[in-house]
Amino acid sequence: MYKKLERNDQCWCGSGKKYKVCHSAFDDKVLSFAKKGILIPDRGLLKTEKDIEGIKKSAVINMAVLDEVGDKIKAGMSTQEIDDIVMDVTTKMGGIPADLGYEGFPKSVCTSINDVVCHGIPTKDEILKDGDIINVDCSTILDGYFSDSSRMFCIGDVSPEKKRLVDVTKECVEVGLKNVIPWTQIGDMGHAVHEHAKKNGYTVVREIGGHGCGNEFHEEPWVSYVSRPKTGMLMVPGMVFTIEPMVNAGKQEIYIDEENDWTVRTVDGSMSAQWEVEVLVTEDGYELLSW
Ligand code: MF3
Ligand code: CO
Repeated sequence: MYKKLERNDQCWCGSGKKYKVCHSAFDDKVLSFAKKGILIPDRGLLKTEKDIEGIKKSAVINMAVLDEVGDKIKAGMSTQEIDDIVMDVTTKMGGIPADLGYEGFPKSVCTSINDVVCHGIPTKDEILKDGDIINVDCSTILDGYFSDSSRMFCIGDVSPEKKRLVDVTKECVEVGLKNVIPWTQIGDMGHAVHEHAKKNGYTVVREIGGHGCGNEFHEEPWVSYVSRPKTGMLMVPGMVFTIEPMVNAGKQEIYIDEENDWTVRTVDGSMSAQWEVEVLVTEDGYELLSW
């Protein structure tokens, strides 16, 4: 995993520099945490400058897609029409929708309305109504690099209760971002997210979380938003992962619709919201890559 390099070897990061003037001190720092029993990322999870540029270019498309959906989304529109926008904008900009065909997922985007927690499948029969809240979760591949982010949209006149859930869920992501602190553990970040949801009377889904992302769609680590402090992987500069808590107005329990084996709903029928960002850990905090 952490193959020991000699001082004059070429650095593992691809910089072309000698190890001793490149990542040698950095590796020593990472390994000092491992010695304390803290889980550290494989080197393969640390993105190079080239990787980061690639992910950012992919994210330009991902965010343009979500912008376009935001401009067009309205009552009376089908979720299939959202899927059409995603396919159209993504491919015109040279990308590929990452969802399409992923583990057999049949469409280009996930559209999750009201009590649907995630992985809603767009169809032409599902029509957005005044008062609905919907998550549109979009992921793009460009030149082999993955971007992943999602946004909530309120359709027409939404009840104050739904609006508050949408707003607090966004705050949960903001709280998560503030807690992306290099050389601390990812469980601290997830814990902070959970506390913010709880403080507002909400629950957070336990079984589905975030993930490393960038060179693959889903990489390590798996990211929980109901985690304990001082647990989970060390957040090391160069890691890229998503913050994407699923927040329920009622109970945390969920189930998967057996009709399609994808759509996840709240057991109690309560409303559920989610926002997702993709974030790079930096030396002094974080950089947003996709939102
Ligand atoms: N975009 C989702 C995520 O945030 C993954 C969707 S997978 C799909 O990780 F197959 F349902 F599209
Ligand atoms: Co994701």
